[in-house]
Amino acid sequence: MPETHIEWWRDAVFYEIYIRSFADSDGDGVGDLGGIRERLPYLRELGVDGIWLTPFYRSPGADHGYDVSDYVDVDPQFGTLDDFDALVATARELGLRVIVDIVPNHSSSEHAWFRNALADPSHPDRRRYVFRPGRDSGPPNNWPSNWGGPAWTRDERSGEWYLHLFAPEQPDLDWHTEEVRDDFEGILRFWLDRGVDGFRIDVAHALYKDATLRDEQEPFPEAPFSSDWRAAVDQPEVHAVYRDWRRLVGGYEDERVLVGEVVFSDPARTAPYVRPDELHMAFNFTLLFQGWEADGIRAAIDRSRAALAEVGAPPTWVLENHDVTRLPTRYGGGAEGLRRARAAALLLLALQGPVFLYQGQELGLEEVDLPDEVRQDPIFRRMKGVRKGRDGCRVPIPWDDGPPGFGFTSGTPWLPIPDSWDAKTVERQRAAEHSPLALYRSALELRGRLTGDLAWRESPEGTLVFDRGGVVCAVNVDAPPLPLPDGEVLLASDEHPPGELPPGTAAWILVA
Ligand code: NOJ
Repeated sequence: MPETHIEWWRDAVFYEIYIRSFADSDGDGVGDLGGIRERLPYLRELGVDGIWLTPFYRSPGADHGYDVSDYVDVDPQFGTLDDFDALVATARELGLRVIVDIVPNHSSSEHAWFRNALADPSHPDRRRYVFRPGRDSGPPNNWPSNWGGPAWTRDERSGEWYLHLFAPEQPDLDWHTEEVRDDFEGILRFWLDRGVDGFRIDVAHALYKDATLRDEQEPFPEAPFSSDWRAAVDQPEVHAVYRDWRRLVGGYEDERVLVGEVVFSDPARTAPYVRPDELHMAFNFTLLFQGWEADGIRAAIDRSRAALAEVGAPPTWVLENHDVTRLPTRYGGGAEGLRRARAAALLLLALQGPVFLYQGQELGLEEVDLPDEVRQDPIFRRMKGVRKGRDGCRVPIPWDDGPPGFGFTSGTPWLPIPDSWDAKTVERQRAAEHSPLALYRSALELRGRLTGDLAWRESPEGTLVFDRGGVVCAVNVDAPPLPLPDGEVLLASDEHPPGELPPGTAAWILVA
């Protein structure tokens, strides 16, 4: 059993497992629950506290699991409920928490509710979705889908239109309908009873849409990763749902937690979601929206801390996930990008509050420039290649063994793993003293020694230096060599001359 201390999640490090791409136990080229279970000792050894599993529920896979057709069953491609129970049991034995994704904003168009709704407009399930008459000869309003085209698709049989903020295969649920709320409480209980430690809530800020359906202001941004511009979402009613869910999880022992995917660039807009009686945590994407630039990074940290302090919640820290370009590539690619990403790892893990890592981040994996013909992300298809989509950060993990399967699968991986990743396998990195994996392991082992509030030290432009208890985290982002404070260097992101840090390097120094 994981050791329970009060508010265990406040300093926890979670590891996101994108299920299709972590480990495949049956040779079909797609990751599964059995594969994850076999690899859990690796995560124990890495030193994380828990895992976040992306959706493994029954799904036709239009958005690779974020289109759920049965919320209380496992998709056969990923295993069975027994496999899930076995995974949770093994995680417990290893002292790892398990949180699971929940997708309440939309279901799959293959869900029985939606099929009933389409088959018969007078069916009670129709009220679970947002069906509306069109305007003139088009959709009810001007809302765009996040992935191009209108957010409405016409139901030919009735002539009405249904709402989908994402793909047409992901119809939005209507949270104004009582049954939707009741059903999701049942779904949460189903997984809590099976022993999960909590939920990651997909597009948590969007469940309720503006009920008047008023038009959004045009022009729309081109690549709307954040919802800053949408007036239709972030409606006040959503907070009552999270208060109910907080009470619900509070009825279980061992402090189960709720983590919201609340996608605003301003943490002040996220803060209301983590008031003491709502979600425990919300992803804080400020560092993920921020380039390798010292003032911007510092401002992101300060803004996040200030906004969340007002509601007593810890800011979470995230640099990568399955929706964004890999960090070394965002930081310029090549040796320079990787060097910066290593330094950023020490910055990230020195921050106070929960941290979310994404599988492969600890290996320093780069974005893969895949050929168009193998791309599978609906974003790529719906946007006709104008946006390449997210496949490049979802390439399976290279464990060992070499191409094509790299120990990820005995078959053909669902996305090709580049031959060059031979140098990046877990097996290789385990054996190499200065690998990204070794750096993450050391940082995770030492992280517990960083205590207390973050206190900035004065430092030259282009650098970031702060105290956490008796340990100083120094980051030279892009300045001339930075003199280090006196003390013992516990860990550095790269080799450095004694007493100073070159640009693109970070270190933790024991000063007290
Ligand atoms: C956010 C998820 O992280 C993303 O992968 C998914 O496509 C959308 N929500 C829609 O569910």
